[in-house]
Amino acid sequence: MADVRTELRFILNDDDVVLTSFPATRTLLDYLRLDRRMTGSKEGCAEGDCGACTVLVGRLNGDELVYEAVNACICFVGSLDGAHVVTVEHLSAANSPLHPVQQAMVDNHGSQCGFCTPGIVMSLYGLWMRDADPSVGAIEKSLQGNLCRCTGYTPIIKAGRAISAYGAVEADPLVLHREAMKQRIKALRDGQRVDIGTGKDRIIVPASADDLAEIYDQNPTGTLVSGATDVGLWVTKFMRDIGPMIFIGEVPQLHRSEETAVGLTLGAGVTYTDAAGPIGRLFPQLTELWDRIGGAQVRNMGTIGANIANGSPIGDMPPPLIALGATITLRKGGARRVVKLEDYFIAYGKQDRQPGEFVESVFIPALPAGEHLACYKISKRKDEDISSLCGAFRLKLEAGAVADITIAYGGMAATPKRAKAVEMALIGKPWSVATVEAALPAYAEDYQPLTDMRASAEYRLLAAQNLLRRFFLETTGESERLVREVA
Ligand SMILES: Cc1cc2nc3c(=O)[nH]c(=O)nc-3n(C[C@H](O)[C@H](O)[C@H](O)COP(=O)(O)OP(=O)(O)OC[C@H]3O[C@@H](n4cnc5c(N)ncnc54)[C@H](O)[C@@H]3O)c2cc1C
Ligand code: FES
Ligand code: FES
Repeated sequence: MADVRTELRFILNDDDVVLTSFPATRTLLDYLRLDRRMTGSKEGCAEGDCGACTVLVGRLNGDELVYEAVNACICFVGSLDGAHVVTVEHLSAANSPLHPVQQAMVDNHGSQCGFCTPGIVMSLYGLWMRDADPSVGAIEKSLQGNLCRCTGYTPIIKAGRAISAYGAVEADPLVLHREAMKQRIKALRDGQRVDIGTGKDRIIVPASADDLAEIYDQNPTGTLVSGATDVGLWVTKFMRDIGPMIFIGEVPQLHRSEETAVGLTLGAGVTYTDAAGPIGRLFPQLTELWDRIGGAQVRNMGTIGANIANGSPIGDMPPPLIALGATITLRKGGARRVVKLEDYFIAYGKQDRQPGEFVESVFIPALPAGEHLACYKISKRKDEDISSLCGAFRLKLEAGAVADITIAYGGMAATPKRAKAVEMALIGKPWSVATVEAALPAYAEDYQPLTDMRASAEYRLLAAQNLLRRFFLETTGESERLVREVA
């Protein structure tokens, strides 16, 4: 068993924080606003959607100290061991000159009621530290998770473009004192398990994957929390008491990402942001989907492992990963087993996972040369929205005929599910309009979708069929030709 520490330690702006007792479900936003009376970070939605609560969290990644925007409203205090939390209060003290980001917002009229402003400032600040001259596209991407209801985005984007006119990023305290902060964080990270409190108010932060395996095997009713972008809402929206909570977001072995000739292995704790590089290199066809998962804050917090583990029928990872033939490694104590991802989903709310067993990693086989891959997300809003449906296609053609095809959808059934009847209607046939049209009725055999707030059953079925048509047009170059003609 790992050595145990009974206090949680992190740095808040310039202060060292040591907590020995707190409610397991305490969110960072409540801690800031209620316990510390730091009211700069606002509560708009309390569900990760609006970004008014955005703060930066700095963590060591190897020898680098990386700051990322996160939603404090769904980030639990228990997840912060060894982190540096930076709030809007850190930017400038009362009655002192504004920070360049703040001054740029003032001069470009980027704020009206001001409720969203602290969050927008923090998102722009995080971006500016990574890129002192961000493009409009980069600013828009960094603000996908920040809603402003009254100003409109044009002045805010202008402000984002102008920040460097108000000061050099090299002179910013987080950049100037980065080395010293690294040393402070390193001193906090002693490789011990954190175990605080009892019963429902117990929080455990495992020291390693082996430690997690031992803890979860012994406490199978504990709630695993990775990025908390799902679990956070159970607390803030459904008021659930979900302790004891086991915070796995910083278990080092779960952050492993390995690219080889045969494929990509991602530890269950790899976030969307961290996976974006390897995914872009190995599966560039998925880049557009990646940019449409949540907003930047959600991508910085949310993990691929949890998107799979939670078994949601509308998660965006299962369709493309099933199409690619991914497998997951499940671990319980010292025992591991590998399961095909498509077999993991048994029924609504039921997955092939035993009590005390967790997802350790996912393996995505490389796409064989010459095969086609596409994934399409259909949602009401382009940014920061959950899929109404999401369809993924992998196709192998031989001499103009369908040698193999795998099609998987989310949002069409109680689980993410393959379109096996449609696949059978296509395999062995010429890859032609006639084949595609003849296969469309088979969708009704594969899926009887629901009507809900995201889409009607009729819409879902028709949209799913249209995605096959679209895939066909794209693989034959027809779609590109149509776009060129229209342009
Ligand atoms: C504003 C917003 C926008 C979103 N947009 C999208 C979107 O566009 N597409 C999408 O698919 N999802 C979206 N989500 C949902 C969510 O972000 C994803 O499902 C995400 O991948 C969850 O990861 P997490 O690490 O935050 O999970 P957590 O909330 O930490 O955990 C989710 C579930 O998985 C379990 N779990 C976590 N890790 C493991 C493990 N290793 N083994 C076993 N069980 C585990 C937890 O116990 C819990 O049941 C959004 C959420 C929010 C709040
Ligand atoms: S309060 Fe809306 S994202 Fe946190
Ligand atoms: S300034 Fe009012 S919501 Fe943005």
